[in-house]
Amino acid sequence: MTSNFGAYDSQDLWRKDRDHYVHPWTDFAVFKEQGSDIMAESEGIYVYDAEGRQFIDGIGGLWCVNIGYGRDEMAEAIADQVRRIPYYSTFTHLSTPPAAELAAKLAELAPGPLNRVFYGTGGSMANDTAVRIAQYYFNRLGKPTKKQVISRIDAYHGSTYLTASITGVMFDRIGFDVIEDMIHHVSAPNCYRRPADMSLEAFCDHLVQEFEDKILEIGPDNVACFFAEPIMGAGGVIVAPPGYHRRMLEVCRRYDVLFISDEVVTGFGRLGHFFASEPVFDIVPDMITSAKGITSGYLPLSATLLSDRIYEVISVPQAEGALFTHGFTYSGHPVACAAALKNIEIMEREDICGHVREVGPYFEQQLASLSDLPLVGEVRGSHFMMCIENVADKETKETFDPAIKIGGRIAQQAQERGLIVRPVGHLNVLSPPLIMTRAQIDATVDILRQSMVAAADELVREGLWRG
Ligand SMILES: Cc1ncc(COP(=O)(O)O)c(C=O)c1O
Repeated sequence: MTSNFGAYDSQDLWRKDRDHYVHPWTDFAVFKEQGSDIMAESEGIYVYDAEGRQFIDGIGGLWCVNIGYGRDEMAEAIADQVRRIPYYSTFTHLSTPPAAELAAKLAELAPGPLNRVFYGTGGSMANDTAVRIAQYYFNRLGKPTKKQVISRIDAYHGSTYLTASITGVMFDRIGFDVIEDMIHHVSAPNCYRRPADMSLEAFCDHLVQEFEDKILEIGPDNVACFFAEPIMGAGGVIVAPPGYHRRMLEVCRRYDVLFISDEVVTGFGRLGHFFASEPVFDIVPDMITSAKGITSGYLPLSATLLSDRIYEVISVPQAEGALFTHGFTYSGHPVACAAALKNIEIMEREDICGHVREVGPYFEQQLASLSDLPLVGEVRGSHFMMCIENVADKETKETFDPAIKIGGRIAQQAQERGLIVRPVGHLNVLSPPLIMTRAQIDATVDILRQSMVAAADELVREGLWRG
């Protein structure tokens, strides 16, 4: 990396950012006082702020910088494509080499019948597209009443009007409007929070039954699709009980409901496979949505992968000359597609999925060693998608008062020690670049332990917790 730190006027940047940039997902009360930490440079698993401080990036940008930072090959592939043709429309009968090559590559990587790709620029757009296509598909089949969408409490599917409504983190709806009459939520498959006397098997039975009951209540003729992240990410890295996805898919099949697997986070290696649905969860869904790791975050791109069956139905014009009227100026952007192709090439050449399958269990095991701390209720997740649930009482699983901001306190302590972790309410989430080595995992877990101890001591000192 050629460091450029002298070039940054960090105070000036901080002020401009605070005074003019409306940040996404922000607590403005804190932001107006503290502004942003401006990250200016990067290399490998590290990011550097504008003053040159180094941090282990425990969150991979935002679950996305899978191949790590500072890859010259990515810069070259992007620059090369910009020189060739930086943009061209893909509407109607136009395309570009990277858009075509990538579509074929994604079809090769995805489970069997998912051979068709629709491009967007982010996960929300991929999911929005999936709903529009599900409804369009049933319209084309002469089943225009099949419109309703079933999602889950604590699911995260995006921030457009439609995907924010499908999202099931109810706390995030405060003050915003959502679509009420088309979207339904069933329970999250949260094993840690299941009733105390319920076995995992009984919990799974209960969830599957609840889902079937919900379809029957709405009416199978009215339900278009079910949305599910293989492991719920932003809602708290919730890992469903064994067999859950397979059984939910069976229910979908029984009632002709499309299963949409949101792999925006789980895809591109985070669980050790390009797509986790089939190899990890034993399901071949009707659609898979993907974004983030598809380019390792180097450029914005998303893909909605469709089964051949869906494509055959939606690709028949509704009337002589009628179009499939869905698409975005930047659908199939050639530079983003070129970045995705290079990202996939690097992942294959370095066997990054194999690395995750090998080192992921070590990451899980090292993080699990934090369970001896009095505030750790559960360490959960899989491979490079992990979370620590902090609780006030291990026995009763009682959470801390949200005003204490335990997740934020730990994240703050970690940042002071050179590690970025993400606070999500009372949780701390880790989703580092997938190239992390065992030694780097040790360093991460060491800092995390010190940070959690420091945050716990702080609470005791402030009289907010007995410890
Ligand atoms: C599972 C999942 N789906 C969809 C999205 C939305 O993606 P984007 O922020 O790129 O629109 C996210 C973002 O974190 C996500 O985690």
